[in-house]
Amino acid sequence: MCGIVGAVAQRDITPILLEGLRRLEYRGYDSAGVAVLTSAQQLLRVRAVGKVAELEKALQATPAVGHLGIAHTRWATHGKPAEHNAHPHLSAGLAVVHNGIIENHAPLRKKLIDLGYVFTSETDTEVVAHLLAHHYSQSQDMLGAFRATLNDIHGAYALAVIHESEPNTLYCSRMGSPLVIGEGSGERYLASDPLALLQVTDRFRYLEEGDYARISLDSCDVWDRDEQQVDRPITRYEHAAHSLDKGEYRHFMLKEIFEQPQAIRDTIAGTLGDDHVLTAILGPDAETRLVDIANIHIVACGTSYHAGLVARYWIEAQAGIPCQVEVASEYRYRTVVVPKDTLLITISQSGETADTLAALRYAKDQGYLATLAICNVAGSSLVREADWRLLTHAGPEIGVASTKAFTTQLVALLWLTTALAQARGQQEFVARNVNALRGLPAMIEQVLTLEPAITELAQRFANKHHALFLGRGTHYPIAMEGALKLKEISYIHAEAYAAGELKHGPLALVDDDMPVVSVAPSDSLLEKLKSNLEEVRARGGQLINFACETIEPTSDSSIQTISLPWVEDCISPVLYTLPLQLLSYHVALVKGTDVDKPRNLAKSVTVE
Ligand code: G6P
Repeated sequence: MCGIVGAVAQRDITPILLEGLRRLEYRGYDSAGVAVLTSAQQLLRVRAVGKVAELEKALQATPAVGHLGIAHTRWATHGKPAEHNAHPHLSAGLAVVHNGIIENHAPLRKKLIDLGYVFTSETDTEVVAHLLAHHYSQSQDMLGAFRATLNDIHGAYALAVIHESEPNTLYCSRMGSPLVIGEGSGERYLASDPLALLQVTDRFRYLEEGDYARISLDSCDVWDRDEQQVDRPITRYEHAAHSLDKGEYRHFMLKEIFEQPQAIRDTIAGTLGDDHVLTAILGPDAETRLVDIANIHIVACGTSYHAGLVARYWIEAQAGIPCQVEVASEYRYRTVVVPKDTLLITISQSGETADTLAALRYAKDQGYLATLAICNVAGSSLVREADWRLLTHAGPEIGVASTKAFTTQLVALLWLTTALAQARGQQEFVARNVNALRGLPAMIEQVLTLEPAITELAQRFANKHHALFLGRGTHYPIAMEGALKLKEISYIHAEAYAAGELKHGPLALVDDDMPVVSVAPSDSLLEKLKSNLEEVRARGGQLINFACETIEPTSDSSIQTISLPWVEDCISPVLYTLPLQLLSYHVALVKGTDVDKPRNLAKSVTVE
């Protein structure tokens, strides 16, 4: 999705802006632009459709050098991807970049046209530029004009503005879209994601909803939505030490798949006692209230939703607590019935997904016992707004298709299940989960050695257009995640079914052109799954079986089996995720798609 970078310094800031945009590329975008205030105190704007590299080329033709500037990567919402729609948008000596959607842009546009403003784009953002210019023309006071503009607009936004009359000042605001202020030595920056600024600083001020700020070389003033000046403390970015390069790997996705043992080690570090979990990490209030939880609602999007679906099986089976799971885009718009003492859990890699954040805010008025965010980004909006938090420590995830974020979410959810079981005296599960979690990173290392066999298998998908994924129990959501991965990055249409549903429809699709991937660990449902697989075989389906090594291999050439080591049931969903990630990665390689930045998708979906 869209990205914002801004900087004020005593040196040329264009390289900082460009590097910032490069670091935001992973989020998905279709055009990019930059506006810099030159030494002649004039705004110079350069924009280009396509990759940041295209913008760099355009900047070679028209060099932009200055000490103040803003830059943007756009993901089209209002108006097609085209240079005239790319940000920044200009009006009367000012430049604006914007993430989000201005919902009342249509009446504002009409009003501004009546006032004589000429629009050169179809974007909602250009309304902000002209509106701000209009207010400034009345008062000659930028801060007042910015405030008045914010009062006029409705919707979701992160905004950054510069004006020719103030060569050392950035203005910015956030409402529904993330924005941070970076503190350098003698210079300041802003960005929609701290990752853009780790090149220059690891110290950030996180703006709260409705905040607006005036940032210069020697000061940083922030006001809240009630126009009260507030102090937003500087915090250090936790993942600053993580490398943001691909290193020896061809793609970020592959690097992130192989980082999973370490990401899981980091996520469980400090959370496990001898044969129990350390619940104090949720905070003292949470520790005492775990025992009160009578119901759980889990809300999330995409891959994070699949993590929630696995957790429902665990929570109900081990802690005996009723649990329901829902996608955030549905939950936020319906009337929810919240039984007494219900915990709301939101799961998100980024902590900025618009629907998940809106769901959390909606939940706050629904009478929940408490809200808990499971998240990979410590300073994110979701983490700051939830009552309790459980951080995953996957490190920055750059590939659009989520991998290590998902498995660390599963680990956090298994930890939570264990804490709930512990609070309810279900000791039989506690020690077993703790042991299994301890051994998990090493098991994952073992499973990753299957890569060569999976690479070979991927060739079978080269000419396929459809695939089915089957699983049962906790492995049904894993099959869903496998299908999602395959469609996201290889563009092969893939669907997942609970294997027992096969004969209620999807079996009609099975023929020798349909690969059927089954997730078949050695658990209590294995025999049932085997019967379902027979149904596929009898119809000539091409079976690809990810099975436990304890299962007798078959000599049938229509079945290709990849064997995984035996593990405890509780961690099996984590382990079986890995070969499915590797499969989709290698199929995407065969297909020649853009693995890290698949078409039409964004890493962090910060608008509805
Ligand atoms: C986007 C990403 C997915 C992710 C989903 C939810 O669609 O491409 O990989 O699962 O958003 O993101 P979150 O950051 O809330 O986990």
